[in-house]
Amino acid sequence: MKTIIEPFKIKMVEPIKLTTLEERETILRRAHFNVFQIPAEDVLIDLLTDSGTSAMSSEQWAGMLRGDEAYAGARSWYHFEKVLHDLTGMAHILPTHQGRASERILFELLGGQGKVIPSNNHFDTTRANIEHSGAEAVDLVIHEGTQPRSRHPFKGNLDPRQLEALIARVGAERVPVCMVTVTNNSGGGQPVSLANLRAVRAICTKHGIPLFLDAARFAENAYLIKKREPGQQDRPVRDIAREMFDLADGATISAKKDGLVNIGGVLLMRDDRLAERANNLLILTEGFVTYGGLAGRDLEAMAQGFIEVLDEDYLQYRLRSVEYLGEHLLQAGIQIVEPPGGHAIYIDAAAFCSHIPPAQFPGQALVCGLYRHAGIRAVEIGSVMFGRVDPDTGESVHPPMELVRLAIPRRVYTQSHIDYVIEAAVEVFQQRDRLRGLKIVEEPAALRHFTAKFAEV
Ligand code: F0G
Repeated sequence: MKTIIEPFKIKMVEPIKLTTLEERETILRRAHFNVFQIPAEDVLIDLLTDSGTSAMSSEQWAGMLRGDEAYAGARSWYHFEKVLHDLTGMAHILPTHQGRASERILFELLGGQGKVIPSNNHFDTTRANIEHSGAEAVDLVIHEGTQPRSRHPFKGNLDPRQLEALIARVGAERVPVCMVTVTNNSGGGQPVSLANLRAVRAICTKHGIPLFLDAARFAENAYLIKKREPGQQDRPVRDIAREMFDLADGATISAKKDGLVNIGGVLLMRDDRLAERANNLLILTEGFVTYGGLAGRDLEAMAQGFIEVLDEDYLQYRLRSVEYLGEHLLQAGIQIVEPPGGHAIYIDAAAFCSHIPPAQFPGQALVCGLYRHAGIRAVEIGSVMFGRVDPDTGESVHPPMELVRLAIPRRVYTQSHIDYVIEAAVEVFQQRDRLRGLKIVEEPAALRHFTAKFAEV
């Protein structure tokens, strides 16, 4: 059969409130053209993030009821630990309340003044935690990873030559760990190949530097390796995922993505000494070592989620759905970050709104256009999120790309929802001249994209 169906039936539904164009216009104005300020109830299709927005399965909900809430040594903890150990082979498995809690513990131990921590691209919270420790976060993604139109199959790869050059420049003793984000969220959800992980591993081994994965989307990365990397087509995705972990000394995981849960995280490592120190910090700020910042029921839901996410029928449906969205936007002439990545489609908003200069936030204009036209909530990743004012010249500095991310929650929307998103995006594109630039009328000192108020120019 050519049609790839959702490999699940729906047994519980959550109604979507339909709104009219006029209602959405009022809601958008009330939110000062900032979709973070719109109540989720007033959104038809919510593509703000794929994080913590998954639908859980009947087995996960059953696990929630089985959750053992003992403070120490709960049955749910042993179940969770066994699943994570079988999946990753890591000796030490620390539960945390979400990805950034794992990052905070890791970088409090390994970061600090004078240290330099490379990655392909650090996710924002990873970078923020590294910088909070006093260390420097450096992005070393391959050149193709910064080119929206490049069709390189592994645009998430870390450039081994740049890594060698960095180590030569600062000295291996100043590099306490090398991170690799799989898939590379900040670089468009693009995968990293096994060949690249092996090359990075070899450099790290040569210089005695531990290698950690930011493995929030490890299953999507493993599936894209199976699809795109020569020689990997006949391997179970589970084996590929295991090889990814085997190449690393540890990992941070936000289970809110490929853990298929609404809250949860994991910190993994092999080193006994480091684990002892990490456990001490875990107890200090998250909770005792057998529950982290979570309830026993959350550990059960995660354990089951980490099994289900490697189901290849699920992964085929998941990745095809994202690819289908990307293909249809491209066919309509909408430029996206190519090729479609794992969890989201990133629209090139500078190309979409070529009449709106970066200073008037073309990405935000498109986000508002999608909400107004069809009630779709996307997120701007451009001058609103990353633009800043140069303290010396007082001039605005814009990031290299103006993107709008359509992140697809896992197992939540069907093919017809995706068709609706395509139809809406194409219609907005046909009337793109009507989109108006925006100016900021009020903004906080930091992380302005969450609360800034805008007005149309
Ligand atoms: N690493 C990556 C690659 C992520 O994408 C995220 C979160 C985190 C770490 C932090 O995990 O949210 O559980 O603390 N990404 C979300 C997103 C917020 O929308 O892309 P967390």
